[in-house]
Order: sequence, then structure tokens, then C-alpha cells
Amino acid sequence: MTDRIFSGVQPTGNLHLGNYLGAIRNWVRLQNEYECLFCLVDMHAITIWQDPLELAANTREVAAGFLAAGIDPVRCIVFNQSRVPAHAELAWILNCTARLGWLNRMTQFKEKAGKQRENASVGLYAYPCLMAADILLYKATHVPVGEDQKQHLELTRDVAQKFNSDYGVDFFPLTEPLILGAATRVMSLRDGTKKMSKSEPSEFSRINLTDTADAIADKIRKARTDPAPLPETTAGLEGRPEAANLVGIYAALSDQSVAETIARFSGRLFSDFKGELADLAVAKLDPIASEMRRLRADSGYIDQVLRDGGARARALAEPLMTEVRRIVGFLAE
Ligand code: AMP
Ligand code: TRP
Repeated sequence: MTDRIFSGVQPTGNLHLGNYLGAIRNWVRLQNEYECLFCLVDMHAITIWQDPLELAANTREVAAGFLAAGIDPVRCIVFNQSRVPAHAELAWILNCTARLGWLNRMTQFKEKAGKQRENASVGLYAYPCLMAADILLYKATHVPVGEDQKQHLELTRDVAQKFNSDYGVDFFPLTEPLILGAATRVMSLRDGTKKMSKSEPSEFSRINLTDTADAIADKIRKARTDPAPLPETTAGLEGRPEAANLVGIYAALSDQSVAETIARFSGRLFSDFKGELADLAVAKLDPIASEMRRLRADSGYIDQVLRDGGARARALAEPLMTEVRRIVGFLAE
């Protein structure tokens, strides 16, 4: 079987540094080695209410972010999920493979539904089966994501295995997660115990890929830290979540390990370190922001990329879906 990558991002708002370091930056590297599909998962997005106009605008915006970060839409297939209805069709079949008990253990559902569990959409609960369908529809062998998606990928393997054994086939691969780099879980700049996320109300908690150089520097300067200087060893970051987060971000942006970053800055004050981190972040992120501004002015081009990507994805998915229908026993053309 050939190696194939699938990954996705929900087009629900701005891309932030967590999306970049946890996922998109790794995709840019992997596109040289693998056949890749990168997807704006708009069907996942509506598991939580989305204003239709905003969803459409965010889908274009996040697609622009992919391209600005360096994804090549000729080499890779870049598309929005809803253009390939087979995602929904396979998700239904996998809903019938997955067990309630498996989904009950999903921590992301618990976090997102919170105390409003009874009022969460059925789609939010079934979300991991749609994610498994995204991946398995193309028999993707590797999925590059941030750390928070690990549990969903374990479920994808369980679903693939149960489908294969229920139907007595060796059809779906057991997909490997690729969780790469020094910042696989970027934390909020205001609270080192919370993940950096699109849904956090405070803008100062995250760096958006569209932020200006001044905004990036300002957010890093105001990031929370403790009063101690940088430690001598990585072990010295334990129990210091904000310090560990900033060091991890520096390491990832500079393509070093955390240990190398610590060796370079040990004993220095955070006020000093933050200045260097801000310069590095601006140098790496500002070119992406300016390319996004350029692409935003050319929505015709983005739409063309997504249309073309959708057609290429459908062409890959359709023969696989035909086989799945046959395996399951559906009479079809
Ligand atoms: P989402 O924005 O939730 O659709 O996530 C898209 C991708 O970014 C997934 O691969 C996530 O694992 C990754 N990601 C999201 N937030 C973070 C974060 N704070 N740190 C690292 N990776 C993240
Ligand atoms: N659930 C992922 C997230 O929130 C997004 C996603 C949907 C995804 N389908 C996927 C990621 C398939 C990797 C592969 O981050």
C-alpha cells in the first residue's frame, strides 16, 4: 500500500500558532515525501452552530492560511470536506461499526459539550466517526496532527480494525498518527494549563497567523511567566507550564529541541528571552500573514483551488466507496 497522508482543520475561525506548530507546518514538510490530502472540515465545524456566511468566509480564510504557510495545491489535494459527500456516507457506516462505549470515552466531546451535554448536537457526539471516515475514505496511512487528536486517532484504528474483522476483510489500514516537533501542544499565553484555541475569548491568549508584527510582539511581551529565570535543564521546566510553553514555542520555531533552547538561554531572564522569541516569531510568521492578505484579495483563486481539490478527492474516494458498499452488502450501481 502506498503511503498517504490525510489531515484536517475546522474552518471555525482564525488559524493560530497551535494549528501552525502542531499541524500545518509539519504538513508543509511532509508534502515532499507523501501523497497528501489537506481538508477544511466544514462538516465537522457545524457540529457546533456556525453562521453560514461566516463558515463560508472562514473556509476561504483557512484555505488561504494553508497556501500562505507553503502547502502546494498542485502537489497536494486541498479541499473542503462537504464537496465529497462520501465522507458523510462512510461516516454513517462507521457510526454503525463504532460502539457507544468507545465514544463515551472521548475527552474532546466532554470538553466541548461541558455542562450542556443534553443540549449538544448529535453530530458533536458522532464527530470522531466522521473523522475516522475522513481518514479511511482515502485509506490514509499517516495523519499529522497536534497532541489533542491522539485519542481520536486511536478510535480511528479501533473502528478500522472492527470493520475489517466484522466483515472478514483486510480493507482499511491501521493509520499511524504523526505528532511531530517541539510544540505538539501549544498552550494559552495567559494560562499555561489551557490549550491555545480559537474559542478562548481573550485575544491575548493566542497568536493568530493573521496578526501584525506589532501584535505578535505585544502578545509575547504580555505572555504570563513566573519570576524565575530560565532553568539550567529541561527538568527545571517541570511545574512551570508558562515557561515550558514559551520555551517549546521558541524551540519549534527555531527547529531546535527544547534541550538545545534551554542550553542557549539558561539563566537568562524571561524579559530578555521574550524579546528574542518575539523577533523569531515575527520573522517566521509575518511572511505568512502578508501572503494571507494577498490571497484574501483573490478569493476566485482560492475557490478554484478548492473546486479542483474537491474533484480530485472525489475521484480518489469513489472507487473506495464502491468497494465499501459491496463489502457491506448494499445493492448499488
Ligand atoms: P482545530 O483547530 O481544532 O481544527 O485543529 C486543527 C489542527 O491543529 C489539529 O491537528 C490539532 O491537533 C492542531 N492544534 C489545535 N490546537 C493546537 C494547539 N494548541 N497545539 C498544538 N496543536 C494544535
Ligand atoms: N478533529 C480535528 C481537529 O479538531 C480535525 C479533523 C477532522 C481531522 N477530520 C480529521 C484531523 C482527519 C486529522 C484527520 O483538530
